[in-house]
Amino acid sequence: MSNEQQFIIGESPAFLEIIEQTSRAAGHDRAVLVIGERGTGKELIASRLHYLSPRWEQSFIQVNCASLPDTLLESELFGHEAGSFTGAVGKRIGRFEEANNGSLFLDEIATISLTAQEKILRITEYGTFQRVGSNKTLNTDVRLIGATNIDLPSAADKGDFRHDLLDRLALDVITLPPLRSRKGDILILAFHFGQKVAQELKWSSFPGFSNEMVETMMDHNWPGNIRELKNVVERAVYYAEHEFEPVHQIILDPFNSPHRPAPLTIKNEISAETNNKHDQAEAVQGPINYHQTLDRFEKELLQNALKANKFNQRHAADYLSLNYHQLRHQLKKHNLLG
Ligand SMILES: Nc1ncnc2c1ncn2[C@@H]1O[C@H](COP(=O)(O)OP(=O)(O)OP(=O)(O)O)[C@@H](O)[C@H]1O
Ligand SMILES: [Mg+2]
Repeated sequence: MSNEQQFIIGESPAFLEIIEQTSRAAGHDRAVLVIGERGTGKELIASRLHYLSPRWEQSFIQVNCASLPDTLLESELFGHEAGSFTGAVGKRIGRFEEANNGSLFLDEIATISLTAQEKILRITEYGTFQRVGSNKTLNTDVRLIGATNIDLPSAADKGDFRHDLLDRLALDVITLPPLRSRKGDILILAFHFGQKVAQELKWSSFPGFSNEMVETMMDHNWPGNIRELKNVVERAVYYAEHEFEPVHQIILDPFNSPHRPAPLTIKNEISAETNNKHDQAEAVQGPINYHQTLDRFEKELLQNALKANKFNQRHAADYLSLNYHQLRHQLKKHNLLG
């Protein structure tokens, strides 16, 4: 895994606490849940959990549970016998079997179907499972690491996630702070990413960032967290013209352009929902901050949907063509849960 060689950077107290919790959790061989917004480093922490554990020499298998439809995911996880469903030509070993004695990282675990969750619960309790299309019971000894950016307890309350599986998985829960809550790490990470690109460009050294760029980075709220910071810094260093001048050309929003197509769907919905003239003017004039504008729009849309539905969340979800679970996630993201 390439993650194995990746540095984990950070010095803020919130980050150091996470690193300490990760080291402790690596030792106990029980399931761990890693929770955090997109780009906060869940994958990096999951791989650290494996490589610091007594299982480090065994396999570390990763599955993105959101990338496959339910039936294919079951066959991916548990394997299948030849001919067990259309398209199942040969026999297939599942990831749980492959990860035997090692660790299995289930990314985006909240998207797993209730049927597959039941099978996973069996594995966590008895270490037994069956391949799809087979009655034969097999054994596996796997350390489970799950990751999600969704609030699993409310998913369980809503019936989308099994409470019993959640209890099994939640022996240790590592919740990663968003970058905006550990501002002390922004510049350290930015330097790290900047230095890496400078090295790639064969610069003799990395000249650092201009004061304005530092200020912009410190003020931004980084909805995409560390991944977003990494992209912004890489872009800035690649665009820099002089190796010896502090990097200064920061582009937070690469979509920003006078020729950018109007965000028609969103704009129409804003007008329909709020008839907000200020927003309309801003969208056509530019420059606008893509992430901040979207954030504000999302929040407004949610507030209006709630209002229009007398604060009944289920109705508001239907109104926005979201499921209840997705709506709750959005409300939480925008601090609208009260
Ligand atoms: N502490 C850190 N030090 C250095 N790089 C980091 C750190 N945390 C995250 N990164 C980098 O940021 C990027 C995003 O991290 P990662 O993929 O682990 O996030 P994630 O939480 O799994 O995101 P998503 O929810 O979108 O899958 C990766 O390139 C990763 O290497
Ligand atoms: Mg990830």
